[in-house]
This record gives sequence, structure tokens and C-alpha cells, in this order.
Amino acid sequence: MSFSIGLTINHRHHAIELDDPRVTLLDLLRERLHLTGTKKGCDRGQCGACTVLVDGRRINACLALAVSHDGADVTTIEGVADGETLHPVQQAFVAHDGFQCGFCTPGQIMSAIGLIAEGQAGDDPERVREGMSGNLCRCGAYKGITEAVCAAQRAMATGEAA
Ligand code: FES
Ligand code: FES
Repeated sequence: MSFSIGLTINHRHHAIELDDPRVTLLDLLRERLHLTGTKKGCDRGQCGACTVLVDGRRINACLALAVSHDGADVTTIEGVADGETLHPVQQAFVAHDGFQCGFCTPGQIMSAIGLIAEGQAGDDPERVREGMSGNLCRCGAYKGITEAVCAAQRAMATGEAA
């Protein structure tokens, strides 16, 4: 039995046939659509490496069944830059050394974009740390990550560089 779903991913519509209803959104993105910027860390909802935005909200793609998101609007790390111009959060991660090996970085950036859109943390480092607590970094780059998220929030609020 197969299932037909439609997803808008990074502003592009995809009609998808699934032959297994257990396919996760993460595996669909990485293995079927070759959007490998979204990382598979733990595959069990514990590390945040697979964070994407679904209808503007942060989710762990490894815990989401693709079939249950029929019609959703998905944004992955591949969809946040504007051509050659990095998203302000990407710019801030570069400017503030928000990464070391980079494995967790796509998830951190997607989570930061979601957090800023939620408007809950402002540029308060403590609240940013709490809001980003679902995104682990094995390199321990948390200082730079927090600084980057705060700087990006300020930049997006004022239109100045991060
Ligand atoms: S891979 Fe999804 S939370 Fe770790
Ligand atoms: S930069 Fe290496 S895991 Fe975060």
C-alpha cells in the first residue's frame, strides 16, 4: 500500500509517494530528497541535530512521520539563505564562532530561527540558552552559539549587522 502526500519544502512543492507509513520526515529529507544539510545525530529526539521548521515551528524531524505532515510547509537549512546572501542567523554564527566541527550547526541555526520567530527569548543569554537547550553540541561551542543567537536577534530587530 502506498501513501501520497504533498509537502512544500523550501518554497518548492513536492508530490511524494511513500510505500511505508513509518518513514520519518528526516529520512524523507535526507534519503529521498537528498537534503542532507539536516543531520541525523541520535535519531531519537535527544540531540536536535535534525531540527527543521514545519509551518514555522521547530520540530525534531527524526520524531516526525512524513505521512502525518501532509500539506505542511517545511523549511530546512538549505532554504534559509537568500541566494548568495546568508540568513542573519547564519551570518551571526560565522561572526561569533558559533561552531567547531559543524555537525550540530544546521540544527542549531534552524532552532535559533524558530526561537527568534517565537519572540520568547529576546537577546537575554539565559533565556536563549534555555530556548536552545534541545540542541546539543558535542564540541561544547555553546558560548559562541548563545552569542550568535543574541546577535542575530538584535540584528533582525534593528536591521544592523550581526
Ligand atoms: S537526530 Fe533528531 S533529535 Fe537527534
Ligand atoms: S560544533 Fe561540533 S557538535 Fe556542535
